[in-house]
Amino acid sequence: MKCKITNKSIDPFMNFGEMPIANGFLDKKDFSNEFFFKMEVGFNEDISLFQLNDHPKPEKMFNENYPFFTGSSEYMKNHFSEYAKFVKKYLKSNSKIIEIGSNDGTFLKNFIKETDKLVGFEPSKNVADIALKHDIPTINSFFNKESAKKLKDFAGNTDLICASNVICHIPDLNELIETIDMLLTSDGTFVFEEPYLGSMFEKVSYDQIYDEHIYIFSASSISKIFKKFNFELVDVIPQITHGGSMRYIIKRSKNEISKNVKKILDYEAEKKLDKLESCLNFKMNCEKSKDNIVEKINLFKKEGKAICGYAATSKSTTILNYCNIDSNKIDYICDTTKEKIGKFSPGMHIPIKDMSYFHNNLTDCVYLFAWNHKNEILDKEKNYKGEWFSHVEL
Ligand code: TYD
Repeated sequence: MKCKITNKSIDPFMNFGEMPIANGFLDKKDFSNEFFFKMEVGFNEDISLFQLNDHPKPEKMFNENYPFFTGSSEYMKNHFSEYAKFVKKYLKSNSKIIEIGSNDGTFLKNFIKETDKLVGFEPSKNVADIALKHDIPTINSFFNKESAKKLKDFAGNTDLICASNVICHIPDLNELIETIDMLLTSDGTFVFEEPYLGSMFEKVSYDQIYDEHIYIFSASSISKIFKKFNFELVDVIPQITHGGSMRYIIKRSKNEISKNVKKILDYEAEKKLDKLESCLNFKMNCEKSKDNIVEKINLFKKEGKAICGYAATSKSTTILNYCNIDSNKIDYICDTTKEKIGKFSPGMHIPIKDMSYFHNNLTDCVYLFAWNHKNEILDKEKNYKGEWFSHVEL
């Protein structure tokens, strides 16, 4: 495939093998026609962009069955309320606000009292319906020129556009930025958060890579991409969410730039995050991580220990399929999401059970797939006396 920004071919440096849709939890009857794609990653040095070589069509992933709800984590609800407080400094009286990928409205609901001029774009109907039920204005559509043009009042008139964990889902970044340009006021602000390449490399958390995450961004890539459209990265603020994310603040190029930007760009240059070299090192670390986790699980099984998984995250799909871990190794995965319970994990077909099943069928060891929610989960499950483990350090 070609890089959407530079139109240059993506030269993959790593192949994770055949992957199913990460959130494609399925029934037994659908095993035989499950969709797979070859998951390879490449790096475009011109814009320092880490990206999938190929990806399924967005409609295959974000549809009426999308099983991710922002409000499923208490910690994330709190995070979004803090995030909302942070962006208030970019608002004037009666400002218009847009959220791209507004999910169940967890973020936008923090503004509902302040302005009646807000709207979220959410392509997955089931999650958009939850926001609408709570009276949060939501357009059940992908965010693009066509859908944004319908919001006539917002064109050139929007002071703030926000997004979280969604910009990396959007294949056509050119159109995305042009649409943002069309909507923002001359001193408007675009703020977004995404899993951070630096954290993924440091933790070897390669499970951040799956069909939905077409890009894993860094400050270097964001700065280079937005400059092409006369926007400037004016501030960056590291976040602990999703195992290490970055909040990027973008304004039109005439604006002042915070010292944080130079600091992070220097850090990235030192770590060679803007070069293919760091990717090749990451590849080696992924291979080692796979060997280690497979060995650990084999040892548990040799010792006669039963294992279950905790939280059927999208991320777990990459781990299970890349490491070829199936229901012979992991008895079941427990999860709180009713849309996943009773189904089977994508590709490896491990049964998904509810939390009471977990409490009634405790195993000797538990693979924590939601390692990014470790504090919240270990606190909730403090009575469990077996062994927690994961492919990242807990
Ligand atoms: P998360 O790491 O937020 O996302 P992703 O799926 O993008 O990797 O994990 C969300 C999943 O974890 C969701 O299926 C709900 C589940 N979960 C639990 O089952 N229990 C919990 O306490 C938490 C926080 C999440």
